[in-house]
Amino acid sequence: MTSEQMKMLLADMSLQEKIGQLLQLTGNFYAQEGLATGPMSDMELTREQVDCAGSILSAIGAKQLKRIQSSYMERQPHHIPLLFMADVINGFRTVFPIPLAQGCSFDPALSGEMAQVAAKEAARTGLHVTFSPMVDLVRDARWGRVMESTGEDPYLNGLFCQAVICGYQGEHVGEKDHIAACVKHFAGYGAPMGGREYNQVELSERTLREDYLPAYQAGVEAGAEMFMTSFNTLGRVPSTANRELMQDILRKEWGFDGVLISDWAAIGELLAHGIAADKEEAAYLALRAGVDIDMMTNVYANHLERQIREGRVPEEWLDMAVLRILNLKNKLGLFENPYKDADEVYDEMPDIEKAHRSFARKAAPETFVLLKNDGLLPLPEAPTEQVRSIAFVGPYVEEKRICGSWSLFYKMEENVTIREALEEAEAAGKLTIPVSCGKGCQVLDYGQERDGFRDHTRNESTREELEAMEAEALALARKADVVVMPLGEHHEYTGEGACRTEIGIPEHQMELFRKIHAVNPNIVVVNFSGRPLDLREVSRKARAVLQVWFPGTEGGHAIVDTLFGETEPSGRLAMSFPYNVGQTPVYYSELSTGRPHVDGAADGRCVSRYIDAPNKPLYSFGYGLGYTEFTYSYVTLSGAVLARRRTQEESDSGEEQLTASVTLTNIGGRPGTEVVQLYIRDLAGSVARPRRELKGFQRIRLAPGESRKVSFAITEEMLCFYRADMTYGSEPGSFMVYIGEDSDTENGAEFCLQ
Ligand code: GLC
Repeated sequence: MTSEQMKMLLADMSLQEKIGQLLQLTGNFYAQEGLATGPMSDMELTREQVDCAGSILSAIGAKQLKRIQSSYMERQPHHIPLLFMADVINGFRTVFPIPLAQGCSFDPALSGEMAQVAAKEAARTGLHVTFSPMVDLVRDARWGRVMESTGEDPYLNGLFCQAVICGYQGEHVGEKDHIAACVKHFAGYGAPMGGREYNQVELSERTLREDYLPAYQAGVEAGAEMFMTSFNTLGRVPSTANRELMQDILRKEWGFDGVLISDWAAIGELLAHGIAADKEEAAYLALRAGVDIDMMTNVYANHLERQIREGRVPEEWLDMAVLRILNLKNKLGLFENPYKDADEVYDEMPDIEKAHRSFARKAAPETFVLLKNDGLLPLPEAPTEQVRSIAFVGPYVEEKRICGSWSLFYKMEENVTIREALEEAEAAGKLTIPVSCGKGCQVLDYGQERDGFRDHTRNESTREELEAMEAEALALARKADVVVMPLGEHHEYTGEGACRTEIGIPEHQMELFRKIHAVNPNIVVVNFSGRPLDLREVSRKARAVLQVWFPGTEGGHAIVDTLFGETEPSGRLAMSFPYNVGQTPVYYSELSTGRPHVDGAADGRCVSRYIDAPNKPLYSFGYGLGYTEFTYSYVTLSGAVLARRRTQEESDSGEEQLTASVTLTNIGGRPGTEVVQLYIRDLAGSVARPRRELKGFQRIRLAPGESRKVSFAITEEMLCFYRADMTYGSEPGSFMVYIGEDSDTENGAEFCLQ
């Protein structure tokens, strides 16, 4: 349809019909079963209103969506097709590691490939839009939704955001097997006070723009078709009514002209926030802010018409929203083919597409972070003198729920557990060392239960059963030379509405760990979690600790492949692991303060430090080990002066860009991948600057003994920031450039910008 035809269609639509396009309901209103990813309320809608809703969320299934679409279009006065949307966060049927794990890969292209796979599977089930990527910057492990983010760094998050959007949307969302992306949650949702869900966010404009907005802006630059408002207030204004955010920054400053959808019930929640006295005011505030779609409330549906008829709401606001929605439907080609890529045959295949499964298995180890290893890993596949047998003891040894709490559509039986992977490797003759398995305990403690959007889990074991489980585990551990303990938090202890004030491994699992350690200290902990946990005790006592997050469909295969050295863990932390919960929020790019303190320095009382804990996290941003060892040469610079962006004739005093290099050498006995990281520190600016900022990284794979020169360009653009007058640009002065294995590296050199 041409834009002229869309305008004619708009002109021909009734007021009710136009308002209907702004309404989004769950699939429950159109089919028997459906998913609710938020609080359900009585919507007080007429059948006509339901029949005129512009989009549906959380309904899937090619057959079902085709049926809904065709019956809906018959009743819709202008036969305008529905948009089908859902939360495809880390995969649809093939589930990949959670986004926080993906961030640890430092491999945005890998996540882009995952998004392509997800887009194909989602498109074939009939979906048109995914509520992904979530690009909220996160620094507080107490917040449950850190699992959906790619971490604490603006630069890294921006690269992942762009790669994932390109993976979902391709060159054009109308192309086959592509879907529209929705960047969320705009803005600053990842910084709730106290790490408590939906709580207020208090950020200075400079911190908001410096740290939190860049990744969202990257989403606009990548051409995301949709944005979603966040639940939180910013400066005490809820995002869903925040004109400065939605109109001034998102649409005017950044030029976003796509669809803006509210988060679930967020428009209605303007009353609870206390900035709307009633639903009419809520409708007015949200539409004025430019929110086009009202997800799951009746505020627009029941409280716009009168205001428009009485001239209190300009009909032009409504028309602009409707046009943006029609434009997205048009871009997806729905007016020509309302079913787009819905494909019952593909959608109902008996198994996951083989290529998807093997990709998921190969990709997951890039997200695993080896936090400790005294040489015990990799484990031998055949018995050796030191290791003649291995016991796998822990609640995750045969757990199928390893996809994270935002994986809503996978088939449980298609997930591979550690135990299944071990049995497969034994049957294939790949594993000849005797291995035994025992759960030792359940993921949840006795009688505990936990609700999720997708399912409800409960520890049904009796005390006697749990005692027998533990006894069996201890017996296995006594007999074996090495014990691998797959432990961790329940998958529904992270995600939306899952904030914690303590961030340890569940205590009943730690009791098992201590008992096992007492009979056999040769322990490898495999930790499952959706957030950084307080791992002090296991890190102190275990001989190796492998962080696997929630690794997805192929998790069991990927973990066994990694433990036995078929592949190596090459992830680096995208989010700091706090020493304890008292340190949160903790992140690498902090300011130095006027009284900086380096752990261990005898610098007295009045410095920026804790009495009862170090300043440094337990494991820093960028940290991670592999199965080999690398050395770095000192940093060399192509020059000591970088010229500021001036006219050509003045630039001879320095170089438009400098090159910083190191020589990396694999001094170990195995091939390995290193994530070489580039950080820059502005030693003095018109405002306080972070102790360092990630400005580049390269994943380098080297054979044993191999060396390679690794170089990075340093440009003035990398040195720009929001200066004292809030203009964005560079300032002359001295800088340090660091190149090393993580954010603590001191391998650096100085240069200046003139
Ligand atoms: C939820 C989440 C949001 C999700 C939406 C639809 O409340 O905040 O991330 O996309 O509702 O499920």
